[in-house]
Amino acid sequence: MCGIVGYTGQKDCVEFILKGLTRLEYRGYDSAGIAVMEKGRIGVRKAKGRLKNLKNLVEDNPLKGRTGIGHTRWATHGEPSDINAHPHVDVNHQIAIVHNGIIENSYVLRRGLEQKGIRFISETDTEVVVQLFAYYYKDDMLNTLYRVLPMLEGSFALGVIDQHRPDTIYCTRKGSPLIVGESKEGNLIASDIPAILEYSRDIYFLEEMEIAVVEPAAIRFYDEMGNFIKKESSHIDWDMEAAEKDGYAHFMLKEIYQQPKVLADTLNHYVDLEKMAIRREMMPFSPSEAQALDKLTLIGCGTAYHAGLMGQSLVSRLARLQSECDMASEFRYKDPIIEKNEAFVVISQSGETADTIAALRLAKASGSKVAALCNVIGSTIAREAHQLLYTVAGPEIAVASTKAYSAQVLVLMILALDLAHLRGRLSDEELKAGLAELAALPQKAEALLEQKEHIQYFASRQFNCKKIFFIGRLLDFYLAMEAALKQKEISYIHSEAYSAGELKHGPLALIEEGTLVMAMTTQHHVMDKMASNIQEARVRGGTVVAVGSSPTPELRAVAEVWELPPVDDRFAPLLAIIPMQLFAYYMALQRGCDIDKPRNLAKSVTVE
Ligand code: F6R
Repeated sequence: MCGIVGYTGQKDCVEFILKGLTRLEYRGYDSAGIAVMEKGRIGVRKAKGRLKNLKNLVEDNPLKGRTGIGHTRWATHGEPSDINAHPHVDVNHQIAIVHNGIIENSYVLRRGLEQKGIRFISETDTEVVVQLFAYYYKDDMLNTLYRVLPMLEGSFALGVIDQHRPDTIYCTRKGSPLIVGESKEGNLIASDIPAILEYSRDIYFLEEMEIAVVEPAAIRFYDEMGNFIKKESSHIDWDMEAAEKDGYAHFMLKEIYQQPKVLADTLNHYVDLEKMAIRREMMPFSPSEAQALDKLTLIGCGTAYHAGLMGQSLVSRLARLQSECDMASEFRYKDPIIEKNEAFVVISQSGETADTIAALRLAKASGSKVAALCNVIGSTIAREAHQLLYTVAGPEIAVASTKAYSAQVLVLMILALDLAHLRGRLSDEELKAGLAELAALPQKAEALLEQKEHIQYFASRQFNCKKIFFIGRLLDFYLAMEAALKQKEISYIHSEAYSAGELKHGPLALIEEGTLVMAMTTQHHVMDKMASNIQEARVRGGTVVAVGSSPTPELRAVAEVWELPPVDDRFAPLLAIIPMQLFAYYMALQRGCDIDKPRNLAKSVTVE
């Protein structure tokens, strides 16, 4: 999704901005651009396609200045093109802006300006904003922002430069994230922390409708009403190395391999492993709250939704607490019935997914307690929830989520155990035994990763297949959904997840000679049922792989088995997802796909 970087200081801004945009490449984009204040005039370079096109353009036709803004665009209004790329400038070339988000009333605003004689050159909603700034400009950009922002419907993060104040960047946000970073070399703005982490670790998170006036040696903040406000910065201590590939061919592979450490770090965050006790202060519900709960709803999108499905199943099963999982994109429109004693966990790696933010706000407005299971401290979701359940996964760069998913599922497993214990469904000993099982997972995950060769070999034989079925029952069905999503998003192979018991109610018609069927078989009490379902697929020509631990002879008789280390059924999907991630990765590699930046997808979906 779109990215913003800006710099104002004593140094040449071009290098800062291009480096920042490079760090944002992982978010997905189709064009890029930069605007620089050059001797009091605004110079702009824009190029469709990869960032290297913009870099070549800037090399052939250099820009020099100490204040500038840059952008990577992901087309929403108007096709990807040089003209539609940001920054956009007004007709008099006095103001330039970059914008993330969508201006929903841009058509009406555009018509109004056109009737006043203003000519547009692009198809974007962003150009409407810059033309409005120019039209209403009196003598100060700050006042102009207060005049124009209330006219804009939708979402925006804006970075603005203005010829009248050549060393200043103005920025603001509503619904899309924006941060301001302080550094000795100058001050920066960005849509995402990695963009400026190399230069600044002291970050200010703008709240909705706040405005920052960023100068080389000062940053001033104003609230929506124009009052000057004092803000505290947050120190970000991520390791810069964490945002590099570290010798792996792709971020996705690196992130798959980081999972044993991520599981160990996340576990340590929530569990005192010496005492085998949950750290109470980390959990969202006190004993009395846990006992009073009538319902727990989990909400997320995509992979986060799949983690939520796993969580709701465990919470219902272990804590005997009614639990549901909703897609955030549905929840906000379905007029949900919210119980009096209902609590929510919203799940989001980035903490900036528009649908999930909307669901969080809806849940909060109902008066319910809302916890955020989130990987980015300081993100909108992390800040707005009543309590943060932090996933200690470090920055996730590949578009396809792997380690964040594992961390989310692990935290939900801990939460389910905690609720079960607090509600009297698990004894102290049973809780300790459950935690000890979880504590053994990082080592088992490590052992699994060592078996990657056979998956790589299998992928080298199967990568031309046209479709794959992922089947399972109960937790394994949710696992199958995540495995299918990984496969389709990075290898572009049509992948269907199906509840195994439902196969014979329709989809069996699609199984033919050679159809690949990946069967998730981690749940021992339904393993015989799975063996029957696998047989149904096999006799119709399906090639079946079963993934699970301690397979029965019946299962071995009907499928090639990818065996997991022995593991408690309740927690097994956390191991089983690893071979599925590797399988998707190697299939995509064989097919020559752009693994870290799959087509049409963005890392964080900040628009609806
Ligand atoms: C798939 C994937 C997406 C995200 C979804 C939600 O691999 O990464 O499905 O899970 O867009 O994103 P977050 O978790 O940032 O809210």
